[in-house]
Amino acid sequence: MKNNSKVSERGGFGSKIGFILAAAGSAVGLGNIWRFPYLAAKYGGGVFLMVYIVFAITFGFALMLTEIAIGRKTGQSVIGAYKSVDKRFSPLGLLAAVIPALILPYYCVIGGWVLKYMYVFIIGSGKKVSTAEYITASGERIPFFSNFISHFTQPTVFFIIFLLFTSVAVFLGVEKGIEKVSKLLMPILLLLIVAISVYTLTLDGAGRGLKYYLLPNLNGFTPTKFLQTIAAACGQLFYSMSIAMGIMVTYGSYMRKEDSLESSVRQIEIFDTAVAILAGMIIVPAVFIFSNGDSDSLNAGPGLMFNTLPKVFATMPAGQFIGAAFFILVTLAALTSSISLMETVTAVVIEKFSFGRAKSCVIVIFATFILGMFSVLGYSAWSDIKLLGMQILDFFDFITNNIMMPILALLTCILIGYIVKVKYIEEEVMLGEKRFRSKLLYNIMIKFICPVCMLMILLTPFVTNI
Ligand code: PFF
Repeated sequence: MKNNSKVSERGGFGSKIGFILAAAGSAVGLGNIWRFPYLAAKYGGGVFLMVYIVFAITFGFALMLTEIAIGRKTGQSVIGAYKSVDKRFSPLGLLAAVIPALILPYYCVIGGWVLKYMYVFIIGSGKKVSTAEYITASGERIPFFSNFISHFTQPTVFFIIFLLFTSVAVFLGVEKGIEKVSKLLMPILLLLIVAISVYTLTLDGAGRGLKYYLLPNLNGFTPTKFLQTIAAACGQLFYSMSIAMGIMVTYGSYMRKEDSLESSVRQIEIFDTAVAILAGMIIVPAVFIFSNGDSDSLNAGPGLMFNTLPKVFATMPAGQFIGAAFFILVTLAALTSSISLMETVTAVVIEKFSFGRAKSCVIVIFATFILGMFSVLGYSAWSDIKLLGMQILDFFDFITNNIMMPILALLTCILIGYIVKVKYIEEEVMLGEKRFRSKLLYNIMIKFICPVCMLMILLTPFVTNI
């Protein structure tokens, strides 16, 4: 009763579908559309896909269920939530608040880049822009993307616009803002991705690309590569499902008590994985046709979305139109994810300082702007500054995704598996269900498999560096 009244005071999702679409909106982001396809292409196509799906239904399921259950049970923002699970683990709440606060700024900077590309394709300059080259002061030839981010003004303007778009939903609150926006945008996103992938698959030569993507390719698969594939799939799952960044705890705290936790998590996972697989069906065959089967173009990493793909659209029949649709899709995906990051931080400010939503929102926008400017400047005026050998944006991405998030997830597993025990989660699951159907699986995952996977993610960068 106490928790229920807390939920209603803070506002909450009005329906199960609203919660699922908002959580899926958080999960479906740049990770699905840009990161998943190139990892799949790099790690043996179908091999990666199979490993990923097995992980999603096992350890991804356990981690997401844990976070949503903690959120719903405590009915508080991350700081209060971890504290009320066990006082000794309060620092985890702080960590879970700092992670999204560090990710949100650079995520909005990238969101700004996507917005710029959407704009360029919508006004019909996609082809011109994607093939353009610029000469730098030192006489070096650079592509459009490098030129765009090396200038301070435009990336800043698009970053601010993206940040403001994000804040509208958060400003309006959970039910009137986040839930409404997710119910509107997520079906559009799904329609767009299905339509573009169907179109790409009808192109001449798409079949070979599709085979490369979907069939397991064990060529050159040494035991080391297999281990790398497992680590990459673990990391991707984590990234893609918005796990260990406080988001699912926050969204869980707005979830209705009577809705089933297990089935909600399954549905969020299906949505997230389906979008990732469909994104691969667009990107892998399209790049494959464009590069005449040269798989190296698929390994282009971050450049894939901003350098290679626009060139692919430029050579495609109706490419201008498909390019515009694609970047609208990516913008929507990024937007619903950044909304969830901002809501997590805002909920902390509301709770910690007892400020109203509007005031808290303004504070978060301002802080995000300042932090985000570091990433913008990292590509322009401050491009010589390297942190641990990385550009500023990459540095933020690295410390959050490779260090802070696995630590948070690892300690959360220890907290639930060994301190408060699985019963803590089970009680919450039972509120919306007759029995905890995946209890055995959950137990094994949270106590043994998840911690090992987290350690693997934590250690991989160090091992590969050695
Ligand atoms: N899960 C979202 C995505 O796949 O893009 C959101 C996200 C993931 C945001 C990882 C930030 C991040 F570091």
